Amino acid sequence: MSKEKELVGEREGVSRRGFLKGIGSGAVAASVAPAVLVGSEETSRADTIDGITQTTVTLNINGTAHQVDVEPRTTLLTVLRDGFDISGNRLDLTGAKPICDRGSCGGCTVIVEGKPIYACMMLAVDVGRKKITTVEGLAGQDNLHPVQEAFVEHDALMCGFCTPGFVVAAKAFLDQNPTPTHEEIQEGLSGNVCRCGTYPFIFDAVKTASKKMRN
Ligand code: FES
Ligand code: FES
Repeated sequence: MSKEKELVGEREGVSRRGFLKGIGSGAVAASVAPAVLVGSEETSRADTIDGITQTTVTLNINGTAHQVDVEPRTTLLTVLRDGFDISGNRLDLTGAKPICDRGSCGGCTVIVEGKPIYACMMLAVDVGRKKITTVEGLAGQDNLHPVQEAFVEHDALMCGFCTPGFVVAAKAFLDQNPTPTHEEIQEGLSGNVCRCGTYPFIFDAVKTASKKMRN
């Protein structure tokens, strides 16, 4: 789905729930999003094309292994959104958003081995076989993830551009702290920025999600 269509949402007949599932069936200040940098032990081959080294790595994304050719400088975010596997299929995981592209907004948050990270700040070759969860991997076949449900119930978005990052960051946060206080929620999501200022609704949604996840 194009970015424009995602943003149009209900005006094109896509329900808010469907929108959330789309971005969700689609990180955090440096302290909250530690760079989980590991060795590129999964490198299977390296070719030099036009002077640029291409390396094939296997990324474990939402439970599926994807073999992709990447340059050493390619970020995880670029692979998720624009990368192709070695069969030529586009990954097309566009839930994580390239908003600042410099590790300050949280729009590109994904979970790597249980920790929220900024995908724009991690090189694909450094991920190795670690488990990557994107917002597309949260919802079940027929149900939204409780965090996504709570965001719908609390109408916790306006333009929605920050929402995938908040949803993923909230999921990772609640996995670590299932019964947070309001202050802990604020602190836990402090690496994500919402330029529309929907913070009160987001924090309420996370509170509701914490109850849903415990049930
Ligand atoms: S933190 Fe990655 S796009 Fe802003
Ligand atoms: S809802 Fe618009 S930036 Fe957060």
